[in-house]
Formats: sequence, structure tokens, C-alpha cells
Amino acid sequence: MKKITIAIDGYSSTGKSTVAKQLADHLGYVYVDSGAMYRAVTLYAMQHGIISKDKFDIPELKEALPSIQLKFKKEPHWEKARIYLNGNDVEDEIRNLEVSKFVSPIATIHEVRVKLVAQQQQFGLEKGVVMDGRDIGTVVFPEAELKIFMNASSVERAQRRLKELLDRGDSVTFNEILKNIEERDFIDTTREDSPLRKADDAIEIDNSEMNLEDQFHVALQLAKDRI
Ligand code: C5P
Repeated sequence: MKKITIAIDGYSSTGKSTVAKQLADHLGYVYVDSGAMYRAVTLYAMQHGIISKDKFDIPELKEALPSIQLKFKKEPHWEKARIYLNGNDVEDEIRNLEVSKFVSPIATIHEVRVKLVAQQQQFGLEKGVVMDGRDIGTVVFPEAELKIFMNASSVERAQRRLKELLDRGDSVTFNEILKNIEERDFIDTTREDSPLRKADDAIEIDNSEMNLEDQFHVALQLAKDRI
């Protein structure tokens, strides 16, 4: 069977990664969470005092980029995938609200994008890859055979994200999360380098009223039509 590249882009917390992981597990493809890579770079910068509430040292971060190594492990399905930063499992840490607050400004830095896009393109060299993010269909894999653009209302997205974070014991409020989602969407869509936008040939799925199973079946059918 032919292997294809599947690019899933969309606004924050639209459930891109849930569908992407299910597709990868079902099709036997590799899954890459590109947002996790931007989050891990952000965590590195926080851990090394490069960024904090009163500091945002872009030259220092650029200098540190060669010291940042990222890897994914499947564990044993992509549904349970974990990201490693310089050999350490940071999958849980990168999801906290502190990292979410810094990640979009970090993702505007050209040199950060150049490094991560190059690695993402390496992951996709052999096809049979599902990658989710903001610029996958427009910049990373403009030739992807299937491009999906996910959307949902910001209130619906904040509710889902709140549940995820409360379930794992974080102490956060709905308003904090809604604000963070709206701020990230604003930065992601208005930045100069690779802004979030729907590729002309992407298929839009608004999942505000869809359950996970329905979303998966719609996406799987789109993939099967192209294999
Ligand atoms: O996907 P996730 O919400 O974890 O991504 C975190 C942030 O990383 C996004 O809000 C965006 O600023 C950045 N990002 C990006 N390009 C990607 C993936 C994520 O700029 N391909």
C-alpha cells in the first residue's frame, strides 16, 4: 500500500494530536508532535534562565540551540508517545501552563523554527508520517498528500484543555486557559515567520460538535481515499 504524508494543522487545543496519534497507530505510521518540540525548546530556555517573567534573551537562546536535542519514543503506541529533551523525558512538564505562556513568543524566533523544521522534515523523509502543528501543510510538508485543518470554538477548546489539566492534578482555571489559548492563537496567526493559516488545499474539520470517534473516522476516510 502507498504511504503518504498527513499534515494536521489548526488552532491551539483543537484535538489535532489526538486524531493524529490515532491515525498513526491505525495506519502504522510515524507520529510527530511538532508543538511538543517548540514546548521542549521553551522548557530548556526556562530551565537555563534564558527566559523568565522578566527576561527574554533571544541571542542567548540562539547560542544555546545546538545544545538542544529532541527525540520521540513510541511507548509502545503513538497514543502514549513521549518527548525527550537531551535524554530526559519531559512529556509531562512541557504541558504545564507556564510553558504554554512562553511557547508562542519562542516559536516566533526564526532560528528556532529553522532548527525544528529541519528536524521535522527529516522525520518525514520516508513518508508514512502524521505530523501536527501550525505550519505543517504550509511550510514543513507543502506537498503532503493529505492536509487537515482543525478548528473548534475557543470556549469548547478551553473546556477540553481545562479537563485535561485538572485530570492530571494541575491547579488552573477556565479563564486562565481561555486567555492563554486566545493569546497563542493571536501570536501564532499574526507572526511574520510561518504564521498559522489553512493551506489552500487543506480540508477543514470543525469539531466543536463532534466526538473523538467521529473525528477519527472522518480523518481516516480522508487518508484511505489517498492511499
Ligand atoms: O501544538 P501545541 O499547542 O502544543 O503547540 C504549542 C505552540 O508551539 C503553539 O501555540 C505555537 O506557538 C507553536 N507551534 C508552532 N509551529 C508548530 C507547532 C507549534 O509555532 N508547527
